[in-house]
Amino acid sequence: MNDFTLLAHNYVRPEVQQIADFTGDSLELAKKAQEVDAGTIVFAGVDFMAEMAAILNPDRDVIHPDPHAKCAMALRIRPSDILETRRRYPDAEVVTYINSSAAIKAVSDIICTSSNAVKIVNSMDADTIIFAPDQNLAAYVAEHTRKELIPVPALGCCPVHHALTVEDIGERIRKYPEAEVIVHPETTPGVQRIADFIGSTSAMIRYVRESKADTILVGTEHGIISRMKLESPGKRIIPASMHLVCPDMKMCTVDRCLQAVKEHGPIVHVDKEVAADARRALERMLEVT
Ligand code: 13P
Ligand code: SF4
Repeated sequence: MNDFTLLAHNYVRPEVQQIADFTGDSLELAKKAQEVDAGTIVFAGVDFMAEMAAILNPDRDVIHPDPHAKCAMALRIRPSDILETRRRYPDAEVVTYINSSAAIKAVSDIICTSSNAVKIVNSMDADTIIFAPDQNLAAYVAEHTRKELIPVPALGCCPVHHALTVEDIGERIRKYPEAEVIVHPETTPGVQRIADFIGSTSAMIRYVRESKADTILVGTEHGIISRMKLESPGKRIIPASMHLVCPDMKMCTVDRCLQAVKEHGPIVHVDKEVAADARRALERMLEVT
């Protein structure tokens, strides 16, 4: 049995991805966090990811090498936003994106990720779904299901993906007219409309590997590019904009990961009651998927 397992998200620095035991999208990482047999998980990513691993592993230490690394979208919602909306829509169910704190997950019926959001929403009994906290993923799900989605907060979004414009992509297409365009569902509906493929970070990596196109424009965070180049060496893989950088995803460096192992910390702590409620919503997602 290994003492430590290093899990890393597809957006973290390439050198951290290279030393990781497993790299993946949020759903793959949630599943992996349930399976590992190491005594301690070290999680290279942003806060909600390490917290999610801790919630799923109440008897194991989960270390987040840099607790200052926070998801800017997850910070934009409070539990009271969901509770108030529940009061306004008493028949609705709450589906919350995994990019959220434990306190938000705890007041949700079920969690989803970018790769299973449509499936999770379709699995719900209610016709009206309160969906937190990404308006763009909510719009994507509404487009692919027959449910009515109420985004909470109304304008919640990832500042990195939301800033990608149709003009940015148009500019690139003028330079590479033969290119295929792939984007993450956190991009705006306008951007999604001009994309050839919309998917989670790992689905995008697979798409690049399997596509017949020589040139692919990638509308998601830069950290994914080096991995795509490594896995698809013959292809021209171009960021759809040079501004698609999530600074918090860059905070976990190799040095910080090594220091975290040496010092056995910082350990992620989640309030027991909050963690139990959040675990219920996360496990419900894992059962459906
Ligand atoms: P994935 O679940 O697709 O990896 O996305 C996580 C994320 O933070 C996207 O910005
Ligand atoms: Fe959060 Fe956006 Fe960074 Fe993903 S890219 S972790 S959604 S701020």
